[in-house]
Amino acid sequence: MKISYYNGQFKNDDEVTVDYNDRAFYFGDGVYEVIRIYDGEFFTVNEHVDRMMRSASEIQIEGVTRREIMDIVTELKDRNDIDNGALYIQLSRGIEKRGHAYPIGIDPVILAYVNSSDRPLELADTGVFAITSEDYRWLKCHVKSLNLLPNVMEKERAVRLGAHETIMHRDGIVTEGSSTNVFLVKDGVMQTHPADNLILNGITRLEILKLADELGIDYKEAPFSVEELKAADEAMITSTTQEITPVVKVDDSVIANGTRGEITTRLQEAFNKKIHKLNLVK
Ligand code: PDD
Repeated sequence: MKISYYNGQFKNDDEVTVDYNDRAFYFGDGVYEVIRIYDGEFFTVNEHVDRMMRSASEIQIEGVTRREIMDIVTELKDRNDIDNGALYIQLSRGIEKRGHAYPIGIDPVILAYVNSSDRPLELADTGVFAITSEDYRWLKCHVKSLNLLPNVMEKERAVRLGAHETIMHRDGIVTEGSSTNVFLVKDGVMQTHPADNLILNGITRLEILKLADELGIDYKEAPFSVEELKAADEAMITSTTQEITPVVKVDDSVIANGTRGEITTRLQEAFNKKIHKLNLVK
C-alpha cells in the first residue's frame, strides 16, 4: 500500500483527501519539486530542498523550515517500498476561502507522494524529436511554481505532433524546454542558457556542468538562438526524470545525423558512474 502525505498527515494513498480551499487549486499559489530515487536512495535531495526553500521565499511563502521538508520527504520515502522512481512534493500558501491577496494567519500546506518509474534508458540511446515555440511564460521562470499552464500546453503540442518536447525561445533565443533544460554542443564547446530569471536552474543542469568540469569539457553559460541549436553538432535536454536525453531533431532540422553525439555520450556515462558511485544503482 502506498503512503502519501497531505497537510500534516501520512495516510494510505486512497484515503487522502485534499481541501478544495487549498490555494494550489485556485491560483497555483505554491511551489514544487521532483526528487529522483535510485535504488531506494535520494539523488541530490539537498539541492532540491534548497531550491524549494528559495522558490518559496521568492513568492513569500513563509512558515516552513528546511528541516520540516527534509523530515517529510525522508519519512515518506522510508514508509514506501520504492526502488526507482520519484518523489513529488508541493508547498502551497495554505487553505482559505478564495481571495486573491495572501490570507493572513494561515499555514502553508504540503502535499507529497512517491511514484515508481524506470530510468529513460532507451531514449538516452535513441534520442528524441523536439519542436520549438515562443516562450510566453512569466518573467520568474527561476521559481519552480505550480503554475504550469504554458508548459502543459506546449508539452501537449509536442505530443500531438509526435515529438517529445517543446523547446521554447524568447525572440529567437532558446530558454528551456517545457520541463527540461536545453544544451547544445558546437565545435567541442557545450552551451546552455545562463541561470537567470528566464529559466529554471535545473539540478540536473548543475550536475552536468559539474561533470563537464570533471571531464574537461569546455562550456559556456550563454544564450544561443534557435538557428544555432538547429546547426549544432549535438543537442540534449536534461531533467530529474529525463536525465540526459539527446535531441536528434528540432522542427525539421536533423542534429548530429540523427544519432547521439560524442560529448552527450561521455556525459551520460559520467552521470551513470556518479549514480553507481553513490551506490544509487545496483
Ligand atoms: N521539471 N525546466 C523546467 C521548466 C522544468 O520543469 C524542469 C524539471 C527542468 C529541469 O530541472 P531539474 O533538473 O531540477 O529536474 C527545467 C520536473 C522534472 C517536472 O516538472 O516534472
